[in-house]
Amino acid sequence: MKSTAAVKTASTLANLQAAYHGESNAHAKYLAFAAKADQEGYGRAASLFRAAARAEEIHAGNHAAVIRKLGATPECKIEPAPVKSTAENLKVAIEGETYERDVMYPAFIKVAQEEKNAAALRTFRFALEAETEHARLYTAALKNLAQVKPATKFYVCPVCGYTAEKADFARCPVCHHPKEKFEVIS
Ligand code: FE2
Ligand code: FE2
Ligand code: FE2
Repeated sequence: MKSTAAVKTASTLANLQAAYHGESNAHAKYLAFAAKADQEGYGRAASLFRAAARAEEIHAGNHAAVIRKLGATPECKIEPAPVKSTAENLKVAIEGETYERDVMYPAFIKVAQEEKNAAALRTFRFALEAETEHARLYTAALKNLAQVKPATKFYVCPVCGYTAEKADFARCPVCHHPKEKFEVIS
């Protein structure tokens, strides 16, 4: 008979695998969307897609580390994302980020809290904060898409994936990593 602890661990492990799969696919999808935005001359949207892609890669890496800590192997299948116009791609991105912000990560955080899995809680919370910014930045990008702008710098925290337009802080507002260590992506 399985112990209760083992059953609980399996639940957060399944959530970590789902999140790892989602983040890995979001990373690939946003790089494809960035290439399309460049083609269409939306330099700023392309920069944002690349910055968010990097953030999702950081989230995937953080989730994978916790999966390994639990003795499992990270698993994901990259499914090629349909690439449409940049306006439509932004809508798809907003939908994905909103789902992660409002549904997926809050549910995963709740289970991790119940299971007292601090490492899972940390990686889910980091992602939740970054996805909140991604949803906001993509929404602004869609609104301002008609104003075609050149490539723009975005700042990505290498620890938690927090993504900002302006580095107007000394330390990451989410994980307190120093600003000097942020990756600049355009
Ligand atoms: Fe993410
Ligand atoms: Fe995101
Ligand atoms: Fe951070």
